[in-house]
Amino acid sequence: MSSRRLLLPLLAGLLLACGGGAPGTVTAYTRPLPVPPILAPTSVAGGVAQYDLTAAEGATSFFPDRPTPTYGYNGMSFLGPTLRLIRGQATRITLHNGLLPDVPPPMTIPELAMNVDGVPNGTTLHLHGLMAASTADLTPASCCDLLPTGGSASTSVFTPDQASAMLWYHPHPFAATGRQVYFGLAGLMFLDDPADAALNLPHAYGVDDLPLVVQDRRFNPDRSFDYKTLTQDDDGVLGDHILVNGVIAPYAAPAATRIRLRLLNGSNRRAYLFALDDGRSFLQLGTDGGLLPAPASVTQVMLPPAGRADLLVDFSGDAGSTRYLVSRPFKLPAAPGTDPDAAGPGSTLVEGNAFTILQFRVGATQPSAPVPATLATLPPPDASQATLTRQFDLELNGDNTINGQLFDMNRIDQTVKAGAYEIWRVTNFTPNIAHPWHVHGGQFRVLDRSTGPLEPNDQGLKDTVRVYPGETVRMLMHFDPRLSGTYMFHCHILEHEDMGMMGQFVVLP
Ligand code: C2O
Ligand code: CU
Ligand code: CU
Repeated sequence: MSSRRLLLPLLAGLLLACGGGAPGTVTAYTRPLPVPPILAPTSVAGGVAQYDLTAAEGATSFFPDRPTPTYGYNGMSFLGPTLRLIRGQATRITLHNGLLPDVPPPMTIPELAMNVDGVPNGTTLHLHGLMAASTADLTPASCCDLLPTGGSASTSVFTPDQASAMLWYHPHPFAATGRQVYFGLAGLMFLDDPADAALNLPHAYGVDDLPLVVQDRRFNPDRSFDYKTLTQDDDGVLGDHILVNGVIAPYAAPAATRIRLRLLNGSNRRAYLFALDDGRSFLQLGTDGGLLPAPASVTQVMLPPAGRADLLVDFSGDAGSTRYLVSRPFKLPAAPGTDPDAAGPGSTLVEGNAFTILQFRVGATQPSAPVPATLATLPPPDASQATLTRQFDLELNGDNTINGQLFDMNRIDQTVKAGAYEIWRVTNFTPNIAHPWHVHGGQFRVLDRSTGPLEPNDQGLKDTVRVYPGETVRMLMHFDPRLSGTYMFHCHILEHEDMGMMGQFVVLP
């Protein structure tokens, strides 16, 4: 009790959010951080590593009193096992839908009804960040041909050939992605490049290389998830409880050494300004799609939904102490004449609230390997390679649209040539929401932001970039000659994507 009292100032926000210690609420930092198990291949036949994922319903005890109905993969009641794909290894993934057909296809916008496949709780699987032919995504367009309950579908055999990175997977059923991810369908997917072993970075999974899936959720009094019940939820669902790997306020117990944190913002809408509670600097090793050319020293990193960061925190001098991963408070830079606090100042349901996310109980001192000065060969992006510029306007005019249009599965919005370099300009005309812009099929490079300099987290290989109100972000796209098929681009606020803020492009040979 006394140690808890000492922590009260730190925990105030969290305890408030949890109801101040009423029966059945979470006592923070009493549950160890779970680490998702690594999924072994079902078989390796004919040189093809076969992985199987089964989505199913379950119940998860986020609170001590009653479990929450949830979804997960492969017997996990929430989230799924970690895939570790190997660069150069032929791979196939099969998805099985074991969800109950108990949720009707959602139709939130009448004009989108024609786009919604009438499959109750149909699902798909998207490999977020993977550079491959679109047939390597489960269901060709990864949105519209839904796998019904009891059904199975396989990717084509694909051979990953991209930089080592932490990618992720999640369902992508049009108009139902937000709900299925919220209920638990998501998992990590590492791409391992054997050549990177020479860097000698921490890589003991779950020991000195900690995968952290950060998500926010709201709960009803009966502990069921509260999803899309508020008017403001149409702008994206914000939660007031922060989960790490499916647990509210867990603790990790690393040694006092250099620890690698692999952060995924797996939230539907919320962005986080990640930092350590004592404000120390740490190194950013990599961004969404791979390692940076060199480690960058930072004190905080802003991650929009779907954003990832590969961080190295030095706990060498912290043996026996307690530290926290936090999200610092921030205000959205607002367009002139608008109110960034429109959702209600002081509410926990505002983007930019402070949170204490994860406790580190730092153990005994262990030696650290030196940090390499160079991590990857990645020349700065060269905009002069581009042969074409495309403009994407993100607007809220009643509906969330891209270039004035809602998603239509029967419309191809852009046609690009395999091998081409292009500049894509994305402008956010929504006054009070930052849209995380995401493109399927590979990684791009951010060229510039109209509002200021790039952050370290804008550097390197990216598949998701936060575009602030009133801002234009330019990125250099390279459509690898090996790409083919139809891909999506969209806002990664899942409720925006579900309500039509999405488009399709085809890559032609
Ligand atoms: Cu992670 Cu189309 O998205
Ligand atoms: Cu994606
Ligand atoms: Cu958006």
